[in-house]
Amino acid sequence: MNIPVKGVNRSPAVSYQELLDRDTRDPPDILRLDQPVDFGSEPIAASRYTSEAFFKREIEKVFLKTWQYVCREEEMPSPGDTQVFEVVGHSAIVVRQKDGGLKAFRNVCLHRGRRLVTESGCKSQFRCPYHGFTWNTDGSFKENPMAWDFPEIDEERFGLPEIPVGSWGGFVFVNFDVGAQPLAEVADPLPRHFARWKIADCYKSAHVAKVVPANWKAVIEAFLESHHVYTTHPQFSGFIADANAQYDVLSEHVTRFLTANGLPSPLIDAADWPEEKVAELMLGPPGAGRPPTWRRGRPPAPTSPRRRASGWRPRPATTTPTPPTPR
Ligand code: FES
Ligand SMILES: [Fe+2]
Repeated sequence: MNIPVKGVNRSPAVSYQELLDRDTRDPPDILRLDQPVDFGSEPIAASRYTSEAFFKREIEKVFLKTWQYVCREEEMPSPGDTQVFEVVGHSAIVVRQKDGGLKAFRNVCLHRGRRLVTESGCKSQFRCPYHGFTWNTDGSFKENPMAWDFPEIDEERFGLPEIPVGSWGGFVFVNFDVGAQPLAEVADPLPRHFARWKIADCYKSAHVAKVVPANWKAVIEAFLESHHVYTTHPQFSGFIADANAQYDVLSEHVTRFLTANGLPSPLIDAADWPEEKVAELMLGPPGAGRPPTWRRGRPPAPTSPRRRASGWRPRPATTTPTPPTPR
């Protein structure tokens, strides 16, 4: 059983809640939640990060049972827009329907199991590249060029197997588990925490991805704590209050941590710093380093004259350096 604890193993510095007490404005209620949970501190076996058998269990119990992020809604605005999603050797397709809804299917042909759709894009149908069995984008069976040789197929019941799909705040998710708990239940109370942010109205202007040669948990863990900021990102210590971050467990599925920005780390000697110094470290000297101001909420498209006038320039393409010749 997880036991909620308060006040233990905390930085001796001012707490996040005490920082809020000092604020001249009332913070939103959600920031006043203070829900740490003690999961114990027994060592975790290193094999969890290296064992192939353990990873296979994670595929079965985690990746194929949990909601997986696919794309943003605005990436598939029109009927037929299809996203191919791949994870741990499994593939799904998510497709926009004529009524504006979304459907998701396992991306496998029901004939010989070939991957049905190989690339994302707008589709009028899903035609298997192997023998041409074809499905409509709503998953119903459409045609089989050799139907005369498959009298056993009941075309009414030969639709693509559907899997759960859901979206929240413009983010589209699928779940390979047909019995999955609905996304809205799993995500709760996330929507309430993001109610002020209107993220459904946002759009993706850049997608940065990197394949990291590490166990997936080691990578995720780097984003779940601020203890490493002092040593790994010392340039932030002047304006990020790292050691007094607050960690909360809000449900079976949702955790968060809150880190105050605009305050020096309690790990550095900055008690007598004026606010201007902290602001300058965070934003640069007055007038520098700030993004251009957009007139109506959205930044202009990267190629628009307004964006060019703002001083924005695309980064020059980088070439891969030639490795030195071994001696
Ligand atoms: S495997 Fe798809 S049509 Fe044969
Ligand atoms: Fe970091």
